Amino acid sequence: MLQDRRVLLGVSGSIAAYKAAEITRALVRENCQVTVVMTRNACRFITPLTFQVLTGRPVATELFSGDEVPVPHISLAKWPEIILLMPATADLLARTASGRADDLLAALILAADAPILWAPAMNTRMWNNPLTQENIKRLVALGHTFIQPGAGELACGERGDGRLAEPGKILAAVRKALFSRKSLSGRRILITAGPTREPWDAIRFLSNRSTGRMGYALAQEAQDRGAEVCLVSGPVCLPAPSGVRIIKVNTAREMQAAVMPEFLETDIVIAAAAVADFRPSAACPDKLKKNSAPPAISLEQNPDILMEMGRCKQKQILVGFAAETHNLEQAGIAKRKAKQLDLIIVNHASGPEDAFGAEAARVLLIDASDTVRELPRQDKHQTAAIILDQVEELLPAKQAKP
Ligand code: CTP
Repeated sequence: MLQDRRVLLGVSGSIAAYKAAEITRALVRENCQVTVVMTRNACRFITPLTFQVLTGRPVATELFSGDEVPVPHISLAKWPEIILLMPATADLLARTASGRADDLLAALILAADAPILWAPAMNTRMWNNPLTQENIKRLVALGHTFIQPGAGELACGERGDGRLAEPGKILAAVRKALFSRKSLSGRRILITAGPTREPWDAIRFLSNRSTGRMGYALAQEAQDRGAEVCLVSGPVCLPAPSGVRIIKVNTAREMQAAVMPEFLETDIVIAAAAVADFRPSAACPDKLKKNSAPPAISLEQNPDILMEMGRCKQKQILVGFAAETHNLEQAGIAKRKAKQLDLIIVNHASGPEDAFGAEAARVLLIDASDTVRELPRQDKHQTAAIILDQVEELLPAKQAKP
């Protein structure tokens, strides 16, 4: 969670400038404060208004704008925790490497103490030019960090190095730069996420609406806190959280086979997956045709992976989920006990806003002494941060036991 972290985003004049809007949106979605500064050439590719709307903050472009702030480069330079320069042109690199202060962005870079992250984007010839590479070396020697551009087709039609790095890679670098708090460092966390798919025939399956968002948000948050994360994921449409080891599975039995060997080596397990409780008894290897009478589906029980972990847990902290429409507390307490969990998170699953797959979650946290904590409906990243805070509180007591 990037709640109230302060990122200054410097945008310079490249066709990739529109991608800065995507990154801005992703940061703001996590409640990060983003202030955007643009060069004049950047404003030819994308308007300041776009960033102003996305961030809800003014966008600065001029050193001498006649605004009420007389020296914006100094106040802006003092504000951020990190500066992200994206897309960064060869010109911005050259100006910074030679200590120029000839526009607002260059001047504030010169005046700033915050760590500086570069995400360059340019034509491959400009990128490979020894002058550009010398400038980079110089800045790296001064402590600047570079997010290596990718190779591929460039806007000019040529192919080669110089493409702006993928958004996921840039966001991962931002997180890495922001997180010095490594409260889970040295801990191993196993997280399950997403639905499972239980095949019925060659192309059909039984599944549910789980998007995997909660489990993925937990994995990202745990990784940000320095944990070694293994994410066992059913089929979802989410990008893999950066730095997380991911094992992809389809069925409940595949999830069980992936989870159980990992479980023995782990400190914390968070079972956020919506595992299908039943599977068709016999999956037909071919596609069933509709010209026969509607077939009956006979079902059989899937293994309860969390129950199994509860039975054989030793030092592990075990966290489970439940989705309930009625009697949330009672059902949550019963389920926590049945599965020998240290903490259970009970999802409201009654109204349309609380339906499986919703962007936000409204949950209860019930601990081992049946204390209930109700969280408001909020973004799943926020919920993930609170869950991990509570798990962290369990860690020392738990692991002090013989
Ligand atoms: N779980 C599991 N394996 C299963 C079923 C569930 O590991 N076969 C885990 C889920 O990841 C989740 C918790 O157990 O952490 C949910 O328990 P469950 O009893 O399935 O909850 P509900 O789906 O809410 O149960 P019910 O359908 O009985 O209401």
